[in-house]
Amino acid sequence: MIRAHFGIDKNPFSHEACGLLAHQQEILDTLKVHCQQGGFCLVMGNPGTGKSVVRDALVKEADKRVMVASISRTMHTYTNTIRILCQAFGIEHAATHYRCEKNLIEEAFALRQAGRSIVTVVDDAHLLEIDTLRKLRLLFADFPPNNNLVLFGQPQLLSSLALKTHEDIRSRITYSVNTPRLGPEDMEAFLLAQLDHCGLAHSTYAPEAMGLIVRASDGLMRRARNVALSCLLEAVRARKRIVDLDNVNRVLMQPHWREERDIDSALY
Ligand SMILES: Nc1ncnc2c1ncn2[C@@H]1O[C@H](COP(=O)(O)OP(=O)(O)OP(=O)(O)O)[C@@H](O)[C@H]1O
Ligand SMILES: [Mg+2]
Repeated sequence: MIRAHFGIDKNPFSHEACGLLAHQQEILDTLKVHCQQGGFCLVMGNPGTGKSVVRDALVKEADKRVMVASISRTMHTYTNTIRILCQAFGIEHAATHYRCEKNLIEEAFALRQAGRSIVTVVDDAHLLEIDTLRKLRLLFADFPPNNNLVLFGQPQLLSSLALKTHEDIRSRITYSVNTPRLGPEDMEAFLLAQLDHCGLAHSTYAPEAMGLIVRASDGLMRRARNVALSCLLEAVRARKRIVDLDNVNRVLMQPHWREERDIDSALY
């Protein structure tokens, strides 16, 4: 519908249009170096700041010398988590807890023999029980040293590790980084690049409409994308070719945006 209305071939703000931003690329490059070394990395940031996009690139761009095991269902127990790991390693996962661990360690050494390093990537790691994380850490201590555990999660991940009792885990971190909120200029550049990607003119958003979207996004890419996309739908409904302030305001009146803004202003 948007495509027909605006006369374009590609979907605007599609998830395929994800070249990394400069700071995401820097995080990815650093992670790749750590992955060759072995280590324990943390990538943290507020929801919608682009962590999973970096995770996807890390998994996708891994070369043949790296075996990447990705865990995204983090609410699982430790037993199920190691089963998911076994599956990712392509080894028997219906075995007992003890057997699964033993198989994983053997496979890890076989991979090292074959000249491959291992990267275990956990997304939404803030949802992981600390106990599960500790057990994973102990399991990886028995792996060859060139293995790397990379956790992606919200900032509370580090605060939960800040307790003295978790020093055993925290002291092993070799790299940590925050995915920041974007400043207004970077956010506008991000939105304009998305327009370029689908062939929409920059003038599709009137300057004041663009300004309001950038402010409403609060530096979060997901929020910017969702508001900007909703505005295009609103323009289709209103039969307009240019998104104006009225379109943006109508979108921001929707309860989920309003409530989110009320919550935000209560927080800051
Ligand atoms: N480099 C990029 N290019 C285009 N869009 C991007 C890029 N990075 C992030 N985004 C957009 O921002 C959205 C949020 O990114 P992502 O899902 O990676 O955030 P997150 O930090 O993992 O959030 P959460 O903590 O909720 O899981 C993506 O769906 C995508 O629309
Ligand atoms: Mg994510």
